[in-house]
Amino acid sequence: MTEGKSMPRHIAIIMDGNGRWAKERGLPRRAGHRAGAESVRECVEACKEMGVEYMTLYAFSSENWSRPLAEITALMALLERFLEEKAEELMRQDVKLAAIGHLERLPKRTRAKLEKAIQRTSGNKSLTLVLALSYGSREEIVEAARALATDAVAGKIDPAKIDNAMFASRLFTAGIPDPDLLIRTSGELRVSNFLLWQISYSEIVIVKKFWPDFRQADLFEAAQEYSRRHRRFGGL
Ligand code: FPP
Repeated sequence: MTEGKSMPRHIAIIMDGNGRWAKERGLPRRAGHRAGAESVRECVEACKEMGVEYMTLYAFSSENWSRPLAEITALMALLERFLEEKAEELMRQDVKLAAIGHLERLPKRTRAKLEKAIQRTSGNKSLTLVLALSYGSREEIVEAARALATDAVAGKIDPAKIDNAMFASRLFTAGIPDPDLLIRTSGELRVSNFLLWQISYSEIVIVKKFWPDFRQADLFEAAQEYSRRHRRFGGL
C-alpha cells in the first residue's frame, strides 16, 4: 500500500466485538480486550506505513462505566500496561499520543500513566494516536454549547458570531482535523455516541470481523475502500 492523495488523513475506529470474540473461544471478556490491544499495535504500524496523520480509537466510552467493576478494572489495567510497554515503541515510531474525553474520571494511576506517555511523546510528528477515554459525544457537544453560552452571557463573545469553527474549537478534538474515514468492527451499524459532530462528512466502513481479528491487512483494505470511493465521488 503506498501513500497517496486519496489516503485518509484521519482514521477513527469503533473497536467493537472483543467480548464476542472471547465468548466464541470460551474465554473471559478480558482476554478479548487483551487480544484487541494487539490489533491496536498493528493498526498503528499500518497507519504509519500509509502516512495517515491521525488515528482516533474509541477505547472507553462514558457508557462503559456501567460495565461490571471487574471488567472496568481489567480494561484500565490493560490500558496502563499498553501505556507503559508501548511508550518506547511509540517513541521509536515517532508516534505522538493524545487523548480526548473526561480524563479526570479515570483512576488516578491510569491518568498519571496516560499523562506521562502523552508528555513523553509530545515532540513526535509522524502519526498522532488519539485515545478516546471516558468519551461521549453528546456530553462533549452539550459542554461546548454550555461554554459558549457562558461566554456569551459574560459578554466575552457575540452570539451572532458563533459559527462551525468556533463551535469545533470548544470540542475535545479542537485542533484535530475531522476523520475522513470511520471504521466499525463486528458488523454493527451504529455510531454509538462517537464523534457525532466530527463525522459529518466521514466515509463509513463497517467490517464484519470482531476487533481482535482486525489486523494490518484489514486496515489497508478499509483505506483502499476509502480511496475507491474518494476517486469515484471526490471533489471534481
Ligand atoms: C469493545 O468490545 C471494546 C471496548 C469497550 C474496549 C476497547 C479496548 C481495547 C481494544 C483494549 C486495548 C485498548 C488500548 C488503547 C490499549 P466489547 O467489549 O463491547 O465487545 P462486545 O460488543 O462483543 O461485547
